[in-house]
Amino acid sequence: MDNLIIEGGRPLEGTVKISGAKNAVLPIMAAALLTEEPCRITGVPDLSDVVFMAKILRSLGAEVQFEDSTLTIHAKNIKCVGNYDLIRKMRGSICIMGPLLGRLREARVSMPGGCIIGARPVDLHLKGMRALGAKLVIDEGYISAETDQLKGCRIFLGGRAGPTVLGTANLMMAAVLAEGTTVIESAACEPEIVDLADFLKGLGAEITGAGSPTITINGVTKLHGTDHQVIPDRIEAATYVICAAATESNVRIIGARPDHMHAVLDKLQECGANITQEGTELVCNGGGELNPVDITTMPYSGFPTDVQAQFMALMTLIPGISIITERIFESRFMHVSELGRLGANIAIEGPSAIVKGGTGLRGAPVMASDLRASAALVIAGLAAGGSTRISRVYHLDRGYEKMDQKLRALGAKIHRVAE
Ligand code: EPZ
Repeated sequence: MDNLIIEGGRPLEGTVKISGAKNAVLPIMAAALLTEEPCRITGVPDLSDVVFMAKILRSLGAEVQFEDSTLTIHAKNIKCVGNYDLIRKMRGSICIMGPLLGRLREARVSMPGGCIIGARPVDLHLKGMRALGAKLVIDEGYISAETDQLKGCRIFLGGRAGPTVLGTANLMMAAVLAEGTTVIESAACEPEIVDLADFLKGLGAEITGAGSPTITINGVTKLHGTDHQVIPDRIEAATYVICAAATESNVRIIGARPDHMHAVLDKLQECGANITQEGTELVCNGGGELNPVDITTMPYSGFPTDVQAQFMALMTLIPGISIITERIFESRFMHVSELGRLGANIAIEGPSAIVKGGTGLRGAPVMASDLRASAALVIAGLAAGGSTRISRVYHLDRGYEKMDQKLRALGAKIHRVAE
């Protein structure tokens, strides 16, 4: 397992280009199972989650090539049973259930495990499939689903924490080949859902309302291949903007979609960060007094839970009390104890973390626990004086393309060593 070694306490300088969105490309890869014709997807980030999803699609019988940020997926002849061990290991793979059910009228996928940030139930996914007329049996860790014909329906998909992103994606992908019309109420509104809908429309699906809480899908009988360019990763972009603010750097961020980032940019403005927009480019000018802010994570277009850990790292540097409340996942504070090793002063009170910022951070050995927590540790390590060693960076490689290379190009003293 690799480690990252960071010599922190120095500002960065330069331009960073944002890669394609992990959380858009994973469901889009699953959606390519809906057609027997080839699909070409460009702007794909080189991430271990993408490579893993390609492995899952191959285990189903699809041909998958991935090079130069381009995926070619040809699901000519596929089977309905996913490899238990593969699927169990990556939550995002649950979204192969919808396309398999839609195209083959049966699917057998393993129950995705929970993970360090929460239980990650799939009850809403199953509710949606049953509403479309699938018979579901859960046995030996598998979800087995079958149907003579999926039938369109109206379904409320909201859960205890609001909409479900992958649940919405799964249901959309099952409904596009169902008989009749499906209306999803309380659908997720994330840009990644809009991107999936655009891909499905490229296959010939009839979808309206993507990006709003009500999505309407008129089922069709067959879908064809398509070419699609993935949207930029708003979470990666937010991570670099926060990193620039935390290290008082002058950094230009290109290739992002600032219109997908209003909540994060608004919070950064509120705490006094100097960030301007030039067309679709974000220009961060470091320095200047920052002040504490309070954040509550919400479904889109509210403040994204996937940026909570990174923003907390920034809060540890701002003198005063900041409060960050996590409303989406029940235990997404694994980064708190590791930030504490770097000198942060954070107390957890139920769903909130109270950050007493401005105590100063000093480098130390820390351990990544999940994808966004590891990004928070990189930000804190870059801002801290001295040397920080981050272990288990495979978590980072799941969702950030070449992060250490991109940061080195900005002048950061960061390098990767094998453990
Ligand atoms: C997606 O996960 C993202 N992953 C997550 O990003 C992101 O944090 C999350 O959406 C919320 O925005 C991908 O897109 C691959 P949810 P997803 O279903 O769809 C509850 C990252 O760091 N829920 O929207 O699995 C659930 O427990 C990852 O890139 C149910 O109760 O999340 C949570 O509290 C982490 N029943 C809330 O809904 C269900 O059937 C939102 O979860 C499904 C979800």
